[in-house]
Amino acid sequence: MTLQFSLGTAAPETVDAACVLIGVYEHGVLTSAAARVDSATDGLIKRQVESGDISGKAGSTTLLFAPAGVAAKRVLVVGLGAQKSFDSARFQKVNLEAARVLGKLPLTEAVSYLTEVDVPGRDHAWRVRVAALASDHAAYRYTATFKPRDKSKQPELGAITFAAGDDAHAGLDQARAIAEGVRFARDLANLPPNICNPAYIAAQAQAFAEGKDKVSCKVLDEVEMDKLGFGSLLAVGRGSVNKPRLIVLQYQGGNEGDKPYAFVGKGVTFDSGGISLKPGAGMEEMKFDMGGAAGVLGAFVAAVKMGLKLNLVCVVPSVENMPDGDSYRPSDVLTSLSGLTIEVLNTDAEGRLILCDALTYTAQTFQPHTLIDAATLTGACVIALGKHATGLMSKHDDLAAELLAAGEATLDRAWRLPLWDDYQAQLDSGFADVANIGGKSAGAITAACFLSRFTDGQRWAHLDIAGTAWDEGRKGLATGRPVALLVQWLLNQK
Ligand code: BES
Ligand code: MN
Ligand code: ZN
Repeated sequence: MTLQFSLGTAAPETVDAACVLIGVYEHGVLTSAAARVDSATDGLIKRQVESGDISGKAGSTTLLFAPAGVAAKRVLVVGLGAQKSFDSARFQKVNLEAARVLGKLPLTEAVSYLTEVDVPGRDHAWRVRVAALASDHAAYRYTATFKPRDKSKQPELGAITFAAGDDAHAGLDQARAIAEGVRFARDLANLPPNICNPAYIAAQAQAFAEGKDKVSCKVLDEVEMDKLGFGSLLAVGRGSVNKPRLIVLQYQGGNEGDKPYAFVGKGVTFDSGGISLKPGAGMEEMKFDMGGAAGVLGAFVAAVKMGLKLNLVCVVPSVENMPDGDSYRPSDVLTSLSGLTIEVLNTDAEGRLILCDALTYTAQTFQPHTLIDAATLTGACVIALGKHATGLMSKHDDLAAELLAAGEATLDRAWRLPLWDDYQAQLDSGFADVANIGGKSAGAITAACFLSRFTDGQRWAHLDIAGTAWDEGRKGLATGRPVALLVQWLLNQK
């Protein structure tokens, strides 16, 4: 369940709440809310700073239970780090940490004064939006495949009030829509691949479109795609009993005839590598290889919820990449929808093979204003940028700048890698127009170079979310990235 958000202006010492959250910087510098609680409690906060119980270190927390002098049942003191270096990223981090701690307490609601903290260059709406999204992120629980739990568990956090005036309302509305999109993406991506297969994703998209005037959904199966000539996409799907789908969602929020914005998301529901089989260790993480699909669908959900006044299409090529007697193989030559032939040198470079046909289809069918794809495309991108930044590649400097700015604004950040023609020769083939791998160096870039062969004449950008779509480890969950980035970019289009 999504957290409920509201705004309030009551004072921290008098507000009636199960918990109030206040910030303290390092070196005993109190925020105004902390100073108010301090004087209402006869200097309790300052005494705890002196004793070292409140360090002010970024993301640290100290819980005070029923301190005399305040109306709330608890006060959670949240460390903000050094005041002089406090910035946007720190603001997000402390809100996330605070919400994590809140989620472990036996309470159902809280009031946060962290949104009163000054963040350089950011207004109230921004602070409320980021705080709300961080809280919703921390409150997210994956429950789909656990056996039904005991109902007598402790109460769960369901609502947070943020200290802010009415000027922050727009931020809260945006947060609600983005949170819904992020949850949609996380829920879909976290599901195991024996449930979340191409047909399942298609059914989720259709269920979302159902009963909405301005939304329509069309799903192509392998027979229809075969007729149209999706030779590259279909080759990848051939080894699996879970047959491919092409999912097309359209939203008419703008004028008829306005060129749509188009998102394309990689929907590989499980990537075993195929005949070029991946090593066993960590292979389970390849259930997240439909993270691009989840991300663009989540962004679509948020855009519809916001009622954005624009036209949007979302295209998801979805397959499962498996080894089989009927699988495609290294050295196969495929004919893509565009007509270009492709020499397969590695069946594990499958994402680009489904995206190329989806990009061709999207460009031909919709003549979009702008075309953006999101894909968990390369391990090389994770090596280059780690788990913090999405890789951004585009030949369009203006579009790249827009996407980088949208990433900064939401802290769903991307970093640009070059897409110079110098790299294209790595894709030369002796047997087809292009090879599907580009050798050892610059793997994220050569993957984008491959896609660029299919987006000629398009205003196009590629987001490699291999590092950012999920948190690593046994308990790693889908992050919902790049929903916030994409939605912010759409918001900036008007
Ligand atoms: N889905 C993977 C990329 C990936 C790997 C994402 C690890 C996140 C973590 C993709 O299909 C893939 O296998 N790419 C290969 C390409 C190579 C064969 C050129 C890779 O990155 O190793
Ligand atoms: Mn692969
Ligand atoms: Zn893959």
